Amino acid sequence: MIVVLTGTPGTGKTRIAEEISRRTDLPLIKINEFAKENKLLGKFDGDAREVDIAKLGRLLRAEIKKMKMKNLVLEGHLACEIKIPAKMVIVTRTRPGVLRRRLAARKYAKSKIDENLMVEMLDYCTIKAEKNYKRASIFEVETSGKFGETMKKIWKILAGKGGKFKSGRIGWGRELYASL
Ligand SMILES: Nc1ncnc2c1ncn2[C@@H]1O[C@H](COP(=O)(O)OP(=O)(O)O)[C@@H](O)[C@H]1O
Ligand SMILES: [Mg+2]
Repeated sequence: MIVVLTGTPGTGKTRIAEEISRRTDLPLIKINEFAKENKLLGKFDGDAREVDIAKLGRLLRAEIKKMKMKNLVLEGHLACEIKIPAKMVIVTRTRPGVLRRRLAARKYAKSKIDENLMVEMLDYCTIKAEKNYKRASIFEVETSGKFGETMKKIWKILAGKGGKFKSGRIGWGRELYASL
């Protein structure tokens, strides 16, 4: 089974994907590293490097085909922008206040933190994933709390018992308006 983890930076994709891979022996592709290894990172556009999304999608699909990989985990915020023959897509979601603290701990510039919070509040990755993964089941998992709690939800989803985590139920609009 091919599983894709996507979501705003800081929402916990890498840590969750590493845990899945460690516990299940599924191989893991970290899309940021894949992009770097394949020299897909272009010039800086302010605070992030541009990535050739179309080429990234092509190379990842070719890699999956070449390796005959039927069981695999891929993680990265860019995963929501491309089409991969995944069976499941899990979008990680974090409350804005929590996400701000995590990104600040990463020493992101304030403008970059604000931009990522906006992306999270607009449900960007969920909406993009719904557009790009028509054949997959799409789930959303809140990662604002303890890691162990997050993983319990992830194992349920992977076991095919993630009905209550189907996408479309998480949104931070209310918090956004409350803070204006
Ligand atoms: N419930 C949780 N689920 C996932 N990550 C969490 C959780 N709580 C705290 N974290 C922390 O959030 C930070 C960001 O996680 P990371 O996996 O690097 O995110 P991403 O890959 O989405 O940018 C890490 O320090 C991670 O340990
Ligand atoms: Mg990461």
